[in-house]
Amino acid sequence: MNPQTAALVRDSWAEIVPMRKQVCTGFYDRLFQRHPELRPLFKGDIDRQTGLFVTMLNTVVSSLENRDPVIPLIKAVGARHAGYGVENADYEKFAGVLLDSFAAALGERFTPDVRAAWLEVYRQLADTMRQGAAEALH
Ligand code: HEM
Repeated sequence: MNPQTAALVRDSWAEIVPMRKQVCTGFYDRLFQRHPELRPLFKGDIDRQTGLFVTMLNTVVSSLENRDPVIPLIKAVGARHAGYGVENADYEKFAGVLLDSFAAALGERFTPDVRAAWLEVYRQLADTMRQGAAEALH
């Protein structure tokens, strides 16, 4: 990932982290409002889920310029997602909702460049998770 993109993601994430509770609550509210069919997949406590999701994004943001060491971890999370009943197309639903939640939190600081940078990171992450899910089937 080019250093400019990585910096946009890192800086905006640093702004989101102190607001993570509200951002994540907004995220799940939006997700279930727009895609109610996803709600039954979540069987556990949403607060705990939120914490795990933020930890995962922290890991991803910390390794933007050195992804190789975290790829096995991301693939393993992807393989578990197949077990939760998550399908490939669900990752696209997640993407739009995640970006809109960041936009709501950051307002005009969520510029088109920041959005594009996050989209790139999310796509890589989702592709690696889906790859992990596919490999687990073989
Ligand atoms: C690429 C972005 C995603 C990341 C980083 C992510 C991260 C996580 C993490 C860290 C967990 C905790 C359990 C574990 O590690 O296995 C989890 C659980 C879960 N995720 Fe994701 N996830 C992503 C995308 C999705 C998508 C697209 C869906 C589709 C609906 C989804 C649905 C779930 C469900 C259903 C659980 C289990 C929750 C429960 O048992 O209540 N995730 N996710």
